[in-house]
Amino acid sequence: MISIKSNREIELMRHAGHINFLTHEELKKHIKPGITTGELDKIAHDFIIKNDCIPSCLGYEDYPKSICVSINDEVVHGIPGKRKIKNGDIVSIDFCVGYKGYHSDAARTYIVGDVSEEVRNLVENTRLAFYEGLTKVRAGAKIGDISHAIEEFAHHHGLSVVEELVGHGVGTSIHEEPDVPNYGKSGTGFTLKEGMTLAIEPMLNLGKKEVCMTDQDDWTIVTEDESPSAHYENTVLVTKDGYEILTGE
Ligand code: MF3
Ligand code: CO
Repeated sequence: MISIKSNREIELMRHAGHINFLTHEELKKHIKPGITTGELDKIAHDFIIKNDCIPSCLGYEDYPKSICVSINDEVVHGIPGKRKIKNGDIVSIDFCVGYKGYHSDAARTYIVGDVSEEVRNLVENTRLAFYEGLTKVRAGAKIGDISHAIEEFAHHHGLSVVEELVGHGVGTSIHEEPDVPNYGKSGTGFTLKEGMTLAIEPMLNLGKKEVCMTDQDDWTIVTEDESPSAHYENTVLVTKDGYEILTGE
């Protein structure tokens, strides 16, 4: 069942989304060589709590931290710890914020210092792939319209699309129906309705599309060929004529 949110629920999700956005803005100031991923986690955790919200990744399926920090060939779910950010890294930050039982989910990828032109393009085109998918969102459109738009944009820019991980509905749980894959056919899948809330999240690789679990923990997903990967995600409300980004400005 795909849930349709009432006006009251949408208000709560807007708030969860806004605090998510503000937390990303706070973190952005600190992403510099030398800071540890664990320090970033603490900054986000404290900021979310201070704003009377909940860091909803913490404890989700026993996930041990409040945010995911995935560097270079790490695709998603990197666990913060003692590792230091360094010049030349690309750093993806992904987390969920809960407010009165409703959740928002958003991710950004940052370039740290000197990064090659092709890796810069990976990061920028992953962000733009999200917006490409977004142009398809409105009541009456199909999930496959979003998926196809993202895939086509990625391939046009020589990037591969991670298939094992997908976007998703979001609301009273972090992960709800439907799946929102970053590949697929236009005109297929569920029909979007006013009041649905979706996490649209392209994960694109510079090399091959295949990913696997790292052997260091049971969370971090890495590219099989160790090529860099980028991630960009927002929680989006489907409206009659289009969309509203709940985790944006
Ligand atoms: N935004 C991530 C996802 O959709 C994080 C979920 S919470 C975590 O998978 F516990 F898995 F980190
Ligand atoms: Co997500």
